[in-house]
Amino acid sequence: MMAKPVTKKISARKPAAKASAKKPTAKKKAVKKPAKRDMSYYFTVKDSVKVVQSRSGKRADKRTKFLVDTLVKHMHAFVKEARPTMDEWMYGINYLTRVGHMCNDWRQEFILLSDVLGISMLVETLNHEKMSGETESTVLGPFYIPDAPAYENGANICLDGKGEPVWVQGRVLNAKGKPIAGAKIEVWQANEDGFYDVQQKGIQPDMNLRGVFTADKDGHYSFRSAYPRHYPIPHDGPVGDMLTALDRNPNRPAHLHFMVSAPGYEKLITHIFTPDCPWLKDDAVFGVKESLIADFTTVDDAKRAAGIGLPNPFRMVEWNVVLSKA
Ligand SMILES: [Fe+2]
Repeated sequence: MMAKPVTKKISARKPAAKASAKKPTAKKKAVKKPAKRDMSYYFTVKDSVKVVQSRSGKRADKRTKFLVDTLVKHMHAFVKEARPTMDEWMYGINYLTRVGHMCNDWRQEFILLSDVLGISMLVETLNHEKMSGETESTVLGPFYIPDAPAYENGANICLDGKGEPVWVQGRVLNAKGKPIAGAKIEVWQANEDGFYDVQQKGIQPDMNLRGVFTADKDGHYSFRSAYPRHYPIPHDGPVGDMLTALDRNPNRPAHLHFMVSAPGYEKLITHIFTPDCPWLKDDAVFGVKESLIADFTTVDDAKRAAGIGLPNPFRMVEWNVVLSKA
């Protein structure tokens, strides 16, 4: 009966002795070479990026992880360089909150913020880099309406007759110069006061200065409109506050919007700019590309004016659109 406790004591001591003999070795390993994932438990300024990036698990979506890891890398670099105070950091948080609160079905302040920081134009340009003679693209802007009325070529989209008349004509072609019959050409623009119809409900007719045309068998399209004017982007919100703080102008140079599409081709979203606008080199959203500045001539030809239903003289622009293969 007495032998059992003795046996137990001996067997209990053996593992204890083994454990104490191994402990220094185990501790030594933990200090010298921590497991890779251990690094994520300790945040340091030096390793901040690696610490955050290492939190992702094996099941992380690869593209999402790449995008977020890259964002973290550059945001941490920004903070380390700019060293915002706590008040400035909270101002930034509150600013983005205000940007969100400014958004509704008719106003997208985040796109506006992206636009004035040049991000929209950078994304757009990088995604259409491989050009070889095709028409260059630019920003869509916030005033596009997908269900604008369809017209026959030559129709007048200036429903209230305001502004200096302009005749727009051209062809839709592929990179080899062949016409793209049936191409859809959607156009929209501001009026001579610098406002879109959607900004002046009850002042301008609905669907004023916008329409959809179809290229004929030779790729031709044409329409009558009014000479556009420059206009300010909406600047009564947080984006406007930032422009004011930076002493930046909110104006966009005068332009006509084009969206051109055809089966088998990449949809083109672009503008053409008038050549005499004082804001060409100071576009608030950086949308101007030199190749998109069009030549608007003045035509003084009574017979021709009568033929197309415009008073003489009138402005005219010829603008060919070249689409990329899809
Ligand atoms: Fe516009």
